[in-house]
Amino acid sequence: MLEKIKEIREAMERELREAVSSDQLRELKVKYLGKKGSISELSKGMGKLLPEERPKAGQLVNELRQALEDNLAAKQQELADKAMELKMAQEKVDVTLPGRPVKLGSRHPLTLVTDELKEIFLGMGYTVEEGPQVELDYYNFERMNLPADHPARDMQDSFYFDAKRLLRTHTSPVQARTMDKLCPQAPIKMISPGAVYRRDDDATHSPMFHQVEGLVVDEGISLADLKGTLLNFVRQMFGEEREIRLRPSFFPFTEPSVEVDISCMLCGGKGCRTCKDTGWIEILGAGMVHPNVLKMSGYDPERYTGFAFGCGIERIAMLKYGIDDLRVMFENDVRFLQKF
Ligand code: PHE
Repeated sequence: MLEKIKEIREAMERELREAVSSDQLRELKVKYLGKKGSISELSKGMGKLLPEERPKAGQLVNELRQALEDNLAAKQQELADKAMELKMAQEKVDVTLPGRPVKLGSRHPLTLVTDELKEIFLGMGYTVEEGPQVELDYYNFERMNLPADHPARDMQDSFYFDAKRLLRTHTSPVQARTMDKLCPQAPIKMISPGAVYRRDDDATHSPMFHQVEGLVVDEGISLADLKGTLLNFVRQMFGEEREIRLRPSFFPFTEPSVEVDISCMLCGGKGCRTCKDTGWIEILGAGMVHPNVLKMSGYDPERYTGFAFGCGIERIAMLKYGIDDLRVMFENDVRFLQKF
C-alpha cells in the first residue's frame, strides 16, 4: 500500500510538471481525483488493510489528495499568467493611442437658418409665435382675404383632410391667429417659422417646405418700416454689403404688395448664373396688411396699420450655403448633413 502511494505520488508530480494546458490539468484531475481515479481507488482499498495500518495509510492518502489539489491550483494559475504574458507580448497594446472618436451629429441647415432668423428678429424686439400645420380653411384662406371662390387659391393647391381642414399652404394664417389672440392690444411684432405644404415637387419645390412669417401691427406703421426692417434682416443674414429692392406684386392679404429682391451675394450685383444676370435674387413676398385682414381680426384700419412678410427658409439656406438642389435637404444623407 505504502509502495503504491509513493508510486502514484511520483507519477502525479511528473505529469503535473509536464502539463502545458488547462485541458491537460482537467484530465489529471479526473485521472487522480475522479470517481474511478487512482486516489479514490486507494481509499477503496483501505478496507483490505490491517486495522493498525489504516490510520497511517489514511493520513498518507489524504496528504496525497491535498497535495494534488494544491498543485493543480498553482499550476492553473501559472498557465493563466503565462497565457496573459503571451497575449500582452503579441497584442502590443499601446495605451497612449488616442481612443476611437465618437461620431457627433450636426445641426440641419434648416435648423441653423431658423435659429439665426429667430436671433435676428428677437434682437429687433419680435416674439416667436407658433401655429398648427393642420389648419382650418378659415384661417389659411378666408381670414387672409381669400374667400371660397377667389382665383388666387389656385396658386396654393394643398392637401385636404375634409372640406374644412387642410395642411396649411403658408405661415400667413398665424397672422390672423396672433391678431385674434392679442386684439385689441398693439403693437404686435412677431415672426412665426414652420413647415408648410403644397402640391408641388421638383428641383426647386418640395411638397413640404418651411416659411417664416413676419407681422407688425401698430399705429403709424408704413412701408418705410417694412423696408428698413427687411434691409436690417438681409444684412445680418447675408452680409453688410447687401441691398434690397421692392417690386410691385399682388397678394390678397396685403395692399400694396411687394416682391423683395436682394443684391446677388455671389457676383455683388454685376450679374451671374445664380441671379440670372440680373444682379438681383428674389427672396420674399411682403406688403402692408390689407384693411380687410385687420378688420376681420378686430383692429380698426383707420387707426392701426401693419406690414407682413413671408419668406421661404429653404431658399435662404440654399443661398447662404450655396446648395443648388432643394431635395438634398430632405434626403437625410449624412455626407450632406456633415458639411454643417
Ligand atoms: N404667404 C405668402 C406666400 O406664401 C407670402 C407673404 C406673406 C406675402 C406675408 C405677403 C405677406 O407666398
